[in-house]
Amino acid sequence: MSAKKQSVLANVRELPSNLWHSIFRNPLPHNDVERSATSFTNFFLHIHPVKVNKNTLRPIYTMGLGLMSFFLFVILVVSGILLMFYYVPSTEQAYDRMLDLRGSVAFGTFLRNMHRWAAHGMVAVVFFHMCRVFFTGAYKRPREFNWVLGVVLLLITLFLSFTGYLLPWDQLAFWAITVGTAIAGYAPLIGKQIRFLLLGDASVGQEALLRFYVLHVALLPAIATLLIAIHFWRIRKDGGLSRPARAEGKPELSISVQAVELDPKRTYGLQGLVRGPLVKVGNVPENSVYSWPNLLIAELFALVVTLAIILIVSLLFNAPLEEPVNVMHPPNPAKAPWYFLGLQEMVSYSAFWGGVGVPGLFVLLLILTPYLDRSPGGVGLWFSRKRLLANTVFLTFVIVNIAFIVIGTFFRGPNWSFVTPW
Ligand code: HEM
Repeated sequence: MSAKKQSVLANVRELPSNLWHSIFRNPLPHNDVERSATSFTNFFLHIHPVKVNKNTLRPIYTMGLGLMSFFLFVILVVSGILLMFYYVPSTEQAYDRMLDLRGSVAFGTFLRNMHRWAAHGMVAVVFFHMCRVFFTGAYKRPREFNWVLGVVLLLITLFLSFTGYLLPWDQLAFWAITVGTAIAGYAPLIGKQIRFLLLGDASVGQEALLRFYVLHVALLPAIATLLIAIHFWRIRKDGGLSRPARAEGKPELSISVQAVELDPKRTYGLQGLVRGPLVKVGNVPENSVYSWPNLLIAELFALVVTLAIILIVSLLFNAPLEEPVNVMHPPNPAKAPWYFLGLQEMVSYSAFWGGVGVPGLFVLLLILTPYLDRSPGGVGLWFSRKRLLANTVFLTFVIVNIAFIVIGTFFRGPNWSFVTPW
């Protein structure tokens, strides 16, 4: 065989391994150096630190809720893009397209179910993720800004779900958005203008459908993607996930400092204060593990659980589709989407305070939380005693919120009168 032919054959034999190297650069890691290299050189794994604290991987600490929020967002983007192939944002066609999905598109109902249940799931999971962050004190220094980003992400998640609600153009969609946007109209001075800006008209119609569509498929997902990227980047820059001091496995330091005069206006580094061989370091317990494969396995586990739940729920339950829009026939009562039922319940007591005043104050308080609560204690532990007051206040807020949603969902009947569901 000629040398040329031999070299061609050798190239073919080596094709799989050359292809692998061209994409991943490194072989599957077998030692610590290669494990570190994997985190550095892989585009997707680059987001991982080389090592993570063991506390981060304890399922009971994060409950995987942040990751599940992210995976739900990814499921929504993928299923949403597929739905866009069939959907037309026109009052003439939108409802018929929903019927087509049900009747003549392969897996159309299943696709719509996945999108709908993932959207509801994301609202709930993001809210529970916020609760986990609060009850473990994880919003405290240096994570204040990531908490603020989180609050904005929660609002965007709500708004994403809300704008999607209108798109099927059935009775449920039309009246829920009519009620929801009426609440926005209660804002003082500019309420009417905000409502007009949202609807593009005085009432819900073609202009509103188009605006909600553009917000839902382009603007809000783009903003959410950017903010999630910054949220993740900040987790790295803020030193990884929060953890209690004992989880650091901090070496026992015994430092004796020679007499030095301190200038109260300066901040001193340790080196500036310590002279001579004064630092004695005790045994350092190994409290971190390589991200490859430990963190990756935990993340894949959260992905599989999220996907499995959404798939099963989508197989078992169909997303609702009511009668086509009838502007003359409001259901009684016309209810907002469940996550705004707390608002609607409060609006029934006072339009301004329930719809704008109290929720506005809540959001402001949420944003300011890490700047008002500056005590460093109790970070990294669920329901730390050191944070009894803060946790009690927040728990009350959570319970009241959930109670209002339950009342709005099950105990409100015609003309918003009190009814019992049994
Ligand atoms: C689209 C919504 C969100 C996504 C995709 C998301 C994702 C994540 C992920 C993956 C983590 C790390 C793992 C974990 O803690 O479970 C995390 C941590 C964090 N998130 Fe979120 N999050 C979202 C919304 C929020 C909200 C609503 C808040 C609070 C208002 C928040 C505040 C934080 C903070 C402060 C951390 C650091 C926690 C720590 O160090 O222990 N996030 N987020």
